Amino acid sequence: MTVYSRILGTGGCLPERVVTNFDLEKTLDTSNDWIVERTGIHTRRVAAEGETCCDLAEQAARRAMAAAGLGPEAIDLIVVATTTPDQIFPSTACLLQQRLGIHGCPAFDVQAVCTGFIYALTVADKFVRTGSARRALVVGADTTSRILNWEDRGTAILFGDGAGAVVIEASSDPGILSTKLHADGAYKDLLQVPGGIGNGGAGAPYMEMRGNEVFRMAVTILGRIVDEALEAASMTRADLDWLVPHQANIRIIQATARKLDLPMERVVVTVGQHGNTSAASVPLALDVAVRDGRIQRGQTLLMEAFGGGLTWGSILLRY
Ligand code: COA
Repeated sequence: MTVYSRILGTGGCLPERVVTNFDLEKTLDTSNDWIVERTGIHTRRVAAEGETCCDLAEQAARRAMAAAGLGPEAIDLIVVATTTPDQIFPSTACLLQQRLGIHGCPAFDVQAVCTGFIYALTVADKFVRTGSARRALVVGADTTSRILNWEDRGTAILFGDGAGAVVIEASSDPGILSTKLHADGAYKDLLQVPGGIGNGGAGAPYMEMRGNEVFRMAVTILGRIVDEALEAASMTRADLDWLVPHQANIRIIQATARKLDLPMERVVVTVGQHGNTSAASVPLALDVAVRDGRIQRGQTLLMEAFGGGLTWGSILLRY
């Protein structure tokens, strides 16, 4: 019997503080009109002082477990995707495990920046399909506001904080149909935070981005990846009900939708309100569309993302 991973429940969490483009106009040489036209972003959420990645991850995880109708004792794997962990170690997954009162199961972080959730869910899917786990909690959470240079208009306007989570379970019904992961470190300089442990913690702990080049790479990569995902599951564009894309920029999302011949009504878009929440962006969008009733059981979804590394990937699934 083929074993699939099925999503049992989803959850999300956004910090309370809303930062609008008009707020950014006060400190940056930018304008609401420019940001809306070039990115589609109107607002983003920013974590309060002292509010951490694990705080957001915990709320999203609790909501996903409640939606799945499961308590902590049912979870036997925790994977957290983040680039902004609370501490260097323990991993955010271990911190989350302690908060949720889960003991003994494997718990680890995956770092693939904005592709993090696609990586984390792919890893968890492999645990489930091989029988190493039965029910996994997979979280994408980031407080990117902490690694932004708020004086850099090229990056500060784009990002927001948040967390999204899913609980998956082994099932004979599909489920996740295909997963595709990629990376190419040759493009490491396009999007990076140069500071790190290797230089004794010195160096700039803030994001640097060559936005225009990232934009062009994203459109090219995502064009390829959607065909690859459909081919892997012997499907065509016509089989897709929803695109749940990484929420980086509305123009990149529109280009992917065009490639798929999908009308924008079939694309889940949260970038206007959330900005780019990095590893949280895909699971947050999924949670929004599940909770407002757009995504229904039995429908086919394509999730995709790209991010620093560069990394990119997709997951095709029956919800
Ligand atoms: N406000 C006003 N003007 C700005 C600006 C801002 N926030 N940021 C850049 N500009 C200016 C530039 O300085 C440039 O001015 P110039 O023509 O006088 O040199 C002009 O706007 C055009 O800049 P450009 O970088 O070509 O704009 P763009 O249309 O590519 O939009 C991004 C910039 C960053 C919005 C866009 O490149 C993008 O979204 N890239 C992908 C980034 C991304 O998704 N990163 C995360 C990946 S996970």
